[in-house]
Amino acid sequence: MKLDQVANSKNDEFFTPKYGVMPILKYIPDGAKVWCPFDTKDSLYVKMLEDKGCTVINTHIFNGEDFFELVNSEICDWCEYIVSNPPYSVKTEVLEKLFETEKPFAMLIGVVGLFESQKRFELFRDHEFEILYLNRRISFMKDYTSGKTALNPPFSSVYITSKILPDKVMFEEINKKEILVS
Ligand SMILES: C[S@@+](CC[C@H](N)C(=O)[O-])C[C@H]1O[C@@H](n2cnc3c(N)ncnc32)[C@H](O)[C@@H]1O
Repeated sequence: MKLDQVANSKNDEFFTPKYGVMPILKYIPDGAKVWCPFDTKDSLYVKMLEDKGCTVINTHIFNGEDFFELVNSEICDWCEYIVSNPPYSVKTEVLEKLFETEKPFAMLIGVVGLFESQKRFELFRDHEFEILYLNRRISFMKDYTSGKTALNPPFSSVYITSKILPDKVMFEEINKKEILVS
């Protein structure tokens, strides 16, 4: 598989396993109000944030809830954090809108080519952000129930965050032996 085939994929239906959500959880305060804008109720972001006492609103295009419309809505005003794994095909536009909100956010994004576009170069240069490196690649799932992986990407994913991590660059280890979905 070519590196950019996944990094720039038009197919956005890849779902994050439990061990991919875990590294960001400790940086979101218990009880926080969190918006997961690319997530159905089955998303492990939603479930694991709720499990730690957060109040979570999840929205997803499949339910007619378009992030690019909601980013200027009451949901965005209400939330204290925005957390998810966004669609890869529009990651630049998503980051642009997230920085505009000035809300703390954390997005899991493929690192290949991330800093190589002029637009993203300018976005990162001009905004406050941090980066959370993971020691292992995440194998994304093809659904939330079978536990089967759809994608073993030949590159790493990182959390790009804003106003969340205490240091500009941080590192977390993930345990891929943990069960994927529950
Ligand atoms: C990479 S998947 C990740 C899903 C989920 N966040 C997770 O990590 O399991 C991104 C999801 O965003 C959805 N999506 C694409 N465009 C969207 C939009 N404009 N607004 C909301 N959701 C969108 C896709 O259908 C896809 O399910």
